Amino acid sequence: MPKVTFIAHDGTEHVLNVASGTTARDAALDNDIPGIDGDCGGVCACATCHVYVDPAWLDKVGRVTSGEMEADLLQFAEDFRENSRLACQITITDQFDGLILNIPAGQH
Ligand code: FES
Repeated sequence: MPKVTFIAHDGTEHVLNVASGTTARDAALDNDIPGIDGDCGGVCACATCHVYVDPAWLDKVGRVTSGEMEADLLQFAEDFRENSRLACQITITDQFDGLILNIPAGQH
């Protein structure tokens, strides 16, 4: 099972074993990770699952593309950055073993 690490704004690390095919949002909620609320149920409509993808993983995970629904939502998220993504739009696969996602300071 791929390991995914969520790092809170205070540096607290949460390392999860995530079944392939699960979204990062669902993995976080299933494990009560603070700061990932996922209020809309994972349908790209709330931005409460905002994460920063570790720069080393950004090419593999993929950047958000302007014009996409995810980009439209993220532009209103607090402290949007180039490596911002919505965790509900990241589906974990075996290729993502070791992925690091940072939780914005505004979410805790
Ligand atoms: S859970 Fe709502 S946008 Fe990701």
